[in-house]
Amino acid sequence: MRKRKENKKQKRNGRKKRVKLQTIRGMRDILPFEQPYWQKVRKVIEKIAIDYNYRRIDFPIIENVQLFERGTGEGTDVVDKELYRFKTKGGDDVCLRPEGTPSVVRAYLQHGMRVWHQPVKLSYYGPMYRYDRPQEGRYREFFQAGFEAIGEQDAVLDAQIIQLAMQIFKKLKIKKVTLHLNSIGCSECRPSYNKLLISYLNNRKRSLCMDCKKRLKTNPLRVFDCKEEKCTQVVAQAPQTVDHLCADCKKHFTSLLEYLDEIDMSYILSPQLVRGLDYYTKTVFEFFVEGENGSQDAIGGGGRYDYLVEKLGGAPTPGVGFACGVDRLVNVMKKNDSNPYYPPTPKVYLAQLGDAAKKKSLRVFEELEKAGIMVAESFGRGNLRTQLSQANKLKAEIVLIIGQREALDGAVILKDMNSGGQETLPFDKVIKEVKKRLKKNAELAKKMALKEQKKKQTTKRKTNNKRKTTRQRKK
Ligand code: HAM
Repeated sequence: MRKRKENKKQKRNGRKKRVKLQTIRGMRDILPFEQPYWQKVRKVIEKIAIDYNYRRIDFPIIENVQLFERGTGEGTDVVDKELYRFKTKGGDDVCLRPEGTPSVVRAYLQHGMRVWHQPVKLSYYGPMYRYDRPQEGRYREFFQAGFEAIGEQDAVLDAQIIQLAMQIFKKLKIKKVTLHLNSIGCSECRPSYNKLLISYLNNRKRSLCMDCKKRLKTNPLRVFDCKEEKCTQVVAQAPQTVDHLCADCKKHFTSLLEYLDEIDMSYILSPQLVRGLDYYTKTVFEFFVEGENGSQDAIGGGGRYDYLVEKLGGAPTPGVGFACGVDRLVNVMKKNDSNPYYPPTPKVYLAQLGDAAKKKSLRVFEELEKAGIMVAESFGRGNLRTQLSQANKLKAEIVLIIGQREALDGAVILKDMNSGGQETLPFDKVIKEVKKRLKKNAELAKKMALKEQKKKQTTKRKTNNKRKTTRQRKK
């Protein structure tokens, strides 16, 4: 009796609780109708990378935890609170990458890029993972496009990377972007600044949150990242890094500002901007969109990291980089009515009737595709009327129909959707005829568009002239 009860209990415990199968918190599907925005961002980023001589690099989504502990920094929220960290079956301590910079530097060292022409300029695009509290614009899986230039310390590189970022926003038609800028010094000037900051914070310790009290001991600069109201009030009056830079950092920052002035790039000096990652030295910057809803989310950020290569085991090598949040760019684009990228759609539709025709249609489709003709179809459907209405919906210019008879005769019916006329052609003549008709239609469409444009210009000219004469008459 007892045994039977135990068996029942075991069975019950062994059964898995059924969960509703949906994306997990903070993760999203990007559906086909949203893709034109994402595609536009990818296209712009690829073009900018080519124009500014950045070569593409891809690196694993899973990396050793130590890479980020030593790179991004223990004591940062990204590493201490937000890491998706787990042990593999082999016992390795790994995590999902929360950002790209340490991985790029690891790759730089692992593949001996020090002997390449310096600076080595690399760009990447892909998902990053941070276990943060999700909200609009903040996701646990989000996409970053990043650019890293390793091996050059001249401030002209900092200016160029800022210029590159602004070009991306401009090309995406993202308006009202502001650049926030600061310099947080180097190993020469940071220790004395830290002392000042610690003494300032110690005097106001009671007003700090528990986390910041800890940060005060481990990593005082991180107090600037705290979002708690009482802590932001304390740091608002804190000593500013720019007032305590060494001669080298001061010179570097001044020349960066001169370069930015030279390219008419406006900026806001933000003494409280320190960025939440530990590797930064000298330049740090962030981009915001002046939001209608006062959004606090940066669309991108970056800075200089002159000790990161060394921290990860390499020889002293400077670096500077930037990454933008693609999810946030897309959100702004949607609100801004920016122009997404719509790929070309098929102008030919292939319809079939009956089993023999269905068999032939696969071959015909392949031939058309090989000839560079985009074709739409709904092969699962047998009803001609449904297929024709689908062709209409897709605005197909030509419909190719294969019926039982055509399948036997090795022929295709070509229906011109503009004129409504149709003719039967042997298979081997179809491609030539379709190409000829598509070309003719394209030329016609071009002519019509030109005519339309001329008509608009004439109307505009006439209205302007009318306005002019009315104004002159009034005078
Ligand atoms: P970051 O500021 O942590 O910098 O991230 C760069 C951008 O990624 C942010 O400005 C934001 O647009 C986007 N982002 C960050 N977290 C989220 C999130 N949870 N959801 C949506 N978007 C997010 C870095 O990651 C550095 N690696 C940038 C860098 C490159 N510095 C030098 N080189």
